[in-house]
Amino acid sequence: MKAIALLPAAGSGSRMNSPRPKQYLDLNGRPLIWHTLLALHAVPELARIVVVLSAGDEWWETFDWSGFARLTVLRCGGDSRAESVKNGLDALRAAGEAQDEWVLVHDAARPCLAPELVSGMIGELGYHPVGGILAVPVADTLKLAGEGQSIARTHPRDGLWQAQTPQMFRLGMLADCLGQGMGPDITDEASALEKAGHTPQLVMGSPWNLKVTYPQDLQLASLILAAHAERNR
Ligand code: C5P
Repeated sequence: MKAIALLPAAGSGSRMNSPRPKQYLDLNGRPLIWHTLLALHAVPELARIVVVLSAGDEWWETFDWSGFARLTVLRCGGDSRAESVKNGLDALRAAGEAQDEWVLVHDAARPCLAPELVSGMIGELGYHPVGGILAVPVADTLKLAGEGQSIARTHPRDGLWQAQTPQMFRLGMLADCLGQGMGPDITDEASALEKAGHTPQLVMGSPWNLKVTYPQDLQLASLILAAHAERNR
């Protein structure tokens, strides 16, 4: 089973309080996205790895990407993550990729992805009628905040999962669902499929597959990558 990875990497990373977009922040001596690409290149089922940058990105060219043989770079990022993904999918369709090709959308900002999780997901979903996402069950007790940061109530966590990426769907179906509207309720690919009436599958992910969002996440990502390297020695 072959598939394509699509990485939206056109964000500015405003929550990081950094002048540099977060995909280019230094992580163990490399730009953050370099680690994400390394993990995806270790997945044999991924025939192509496609990065979506913003048209005005001036950082990409300043790094060496020569080790990544299956990489394609598109400069068609949009104003939101969903728009960047949709633009990338449209470019793949225009370039002749088949409608039923599996596409795994993965945040550039998740550098600690384990390649075997991706292979497992492709194996598990390869014959699924819709596709699905990596996710983990919610572990903490959830509180709904009221006025002045008081606790309004405790929200039952039974059956709740935290969505991660990759999110794996057919190229044509995903592009069509995103094309039906990309409002604030579409915060990941699965939500676009759900809104269109489809039922994506949850596949067990890993708490180590964190998304770098705030500055302290970089330190945690660095420790996780070091642990991976130690395990693979
Ligand atoms: O900001 P957030 O952490 O939700 O971004 C998730 C991913 O979406 C990042 O890899 C970011 O670069 C990407 N993104 C994008 N286009 C945007 C906004 C975010 O490709 N306009």
